[in-house]
Amino acid sequence: MSKLLGFRFYMRNLRLLLAVIKLWLIGVFGAPISRHDSSFQTKLMGLHINNPIGLAAGIDRIGVLLNGVSKAGYGFLEVGSVTPKSAEIARKNLEKGGVDGIAIPVGVNIMSEPGDVGAAAISGYLVCARIVLPFADYLVLNFSSPKRCATIDDQEWVEQLLSRVIEMRDEIWTKTHRRVPVAVKITVSPELGRAQCKLLECCQHHALDGVVIVSSAEQDEERHYRLLSKIKDVVKQIDIISVGGIADYQQVANRLNAGASAVQVFSSVLSRGVLLPSSMLRDVDPHFIGDHECE
Ligand SMILES: Cc1cc2nc3c(=O)[nH]c(=O)nc-3n(C[C@H](O)[C@H](O)[C@H](O)COP(=O)(O)O)c2cc1C
Repeated sequence: MSKLLGFRFYMRNLRLLLAVIKLWLIGVFGAPISRHDSSFQTKLMGLHINNPIGLAAGIDRIGVLLNGVSKAGYGFLEVGSVTPKSAEIARKNLEKGGVDGIAIPVGVNIMSEPGDVGAAAISGYLVCARIVLPFADYLVLNFSSPKRCATIDDQEWVEQLLSRVIEMRDEIWTKTHRRVPVAVKITVSPELGRAQCKLLECCQHHALDGVVIVSSAEQDEERHYRLLSKIKDVVKQIDIISVGGIADYQQVANRLNAGASAVQVFSSVLSRGVLLPSSMLRDVDPHFIGDHECE
């Protein structure tokens, strides 16, 4: 059933399907083309990454592209969104892991079934978390879907979900001695509204490891820069992953300078090709990251 659901989604998004096929073929037949320049290496939520450009959730929805994404030169991969219906199939794929020596950190982005609200939505997230936590390098609770917006304004609901996920993560940590960083993915408006600030404060209060910040691709870089700096002031030591409208290295550098620890790409991969990160990094002086000032 979940296989069928994934198939329908890709048929509605043909450019996405093409990207998936290319990454899968690279995974099976390609040689690693990533640039292993140690100057791009950095840390994200305590995980070592070869470069700060990750593949955003929505392309590899069930964890079948790890080899291709690693070989194509991405620093990390976010699988999902995984829902209770697709969690078991994602688990089986993640369990296999990647080819030794080329694997990159794999985050799993989870979500309840889109129509669920209240307690049903909480149990949807928890079902997914229980299934994927043992196989994820980091976990993301996806709050960025438009269907989730009303729910995440309910602070009590958010508090309850975060504390139960952290509790579950800590149980697994005690049993396995493996601590999985937890993040939330939220869409923010340029002016950073009160509800969004409250949500970020809540992440800070629950000592989350990361926030994936989706900002509109339409706004100019200066606004992304100001927004990320504001968010960094709120979340402080929590790592920020910035996503939205990133297509060249100048933007990557801007977002990192504004306080992000890493970025993710999505639409530009569909329009410019799956090897985008390697082409972004190819001609860059790594020291550019630290020196660059936003224009
Ligand atoms: C067709 C499509 C499917 C997506 N599916 C997901 C998803 O399942 N989970 C998720 O967290 N984000 C999903 N996203 C959002 C992307 O991960 C990303 O945050 C967003 O597209 C902004 O990045 P961009 O401007 O580079 O496209 C999807 C986006 C698109 C266009």
